Amino acid sequence: MTARIIAVTNQKGGVGKTTTTVNLATALAASKRRVLVIDADPQGNASTGFGLDPDDRQHDLYQLMSGAITIDAAIHPTLVKGLMVIPSTGDLSAIEIELSDYEDREYRLKAIIDEVIEDYDYVFIDCPPSLGLLTVNALSAADAALVPLQCEYYALEGLSQLMKTIEAVRNGLNPDLVLQGVVLTMYDRRNRLSDLVANDVRQHLGQLVYTTIIPRNVRVSEAPSYGKPVLLYDLDCPGSKAYIALAGEVIKQEGQAA
Ligand SMILES: Nc1ncnc2c1ncn2[C@@H]1O[C@H](COP(=O)(O)OP(=O)(O)OP(=O)(O)O)[C@@H](O)[C@H]1O
Ligand SMILES: [Mg+2]
Repeated sequence: MTARIIAVTNQKGGVGKTTTTVNLATALAASKRRVLVIDADPQGNASTGFGLDPDDRQHDLYQLMSGAITIDAAIHPTLVKGLMVIPSTGDLSAIEIELSDYEDREYRLKAIIDEVIEDYDYVFIDCPPSLGLLTVNALSAADAALVPLQCEYYALEGLSQLMKTIEAVRNGLNPDLVLQGVVLTMYDRRNRLSDLVANDVRQHLGQLVYTTIIPRNVRVSEAPSYGKPVLLYDLDCPGSKAYIALAGEVIKQEGQAA
């Protein structure tokens, strides 16, 4: 068995990519899956979310992608049993320019993941809010894209651009790329717009949208400041329950995945 590689992506900022990466990965690890999270965003939010202080990140994705270190040096343990992370720092923002000199510029990340693909059940790549070379690397390496959509008015507008990008990658760099699913995030049941958007997205995308909706929950947003996934911070809060349910849906997909 080799890992299923999932790029968590949406070029729109602040839609819940990192929150979904950290907490879905944690919920899968809690279900005894071996999980690697790759923080492919120079903001380093996923690294922070797992409690890796900047001082703990001497060996990061930037050094790994530029060939300065081996993957063993880049993989860090986390508080979560069975879950490892390759952290990032602001240095990673330079990689897009440096990569443009390499012939294998779109496949750097894929080559890295290939080295450890048998060690994990899931590899999650937390993408930055752009469609630059880091996201292209993630989509070239991935089996599937998982797209968080925030329940707000412009959610669908950005989606068509993202679908075009995924289609372009499928037509060139990675013909096997599929859509793992779309997850609605930051749902607020007191806000009618949240419902309208959720219904609209389901009408457009049907089966591709997970049944689980992630509610807006202050515990979810507090957890990173304690360097913990929300499941470790408050297991019983609505956000934790939602991510556990989402992991259940992803596990159900295992049987169906090609
Ligand atoms: N379910 C939720 N309930 C409450 N707050 C949330 C929830 N999901 C995300 N947030 C908050 O919303 C903000 C954006 O979330 P997050 O960082 O996950 O988005 P992102 O798409 O990774 O952002 P970026 O594009 O900058 O990488 C964060 O402050 C996060 O704590
Ligand atoms: Mg993020």
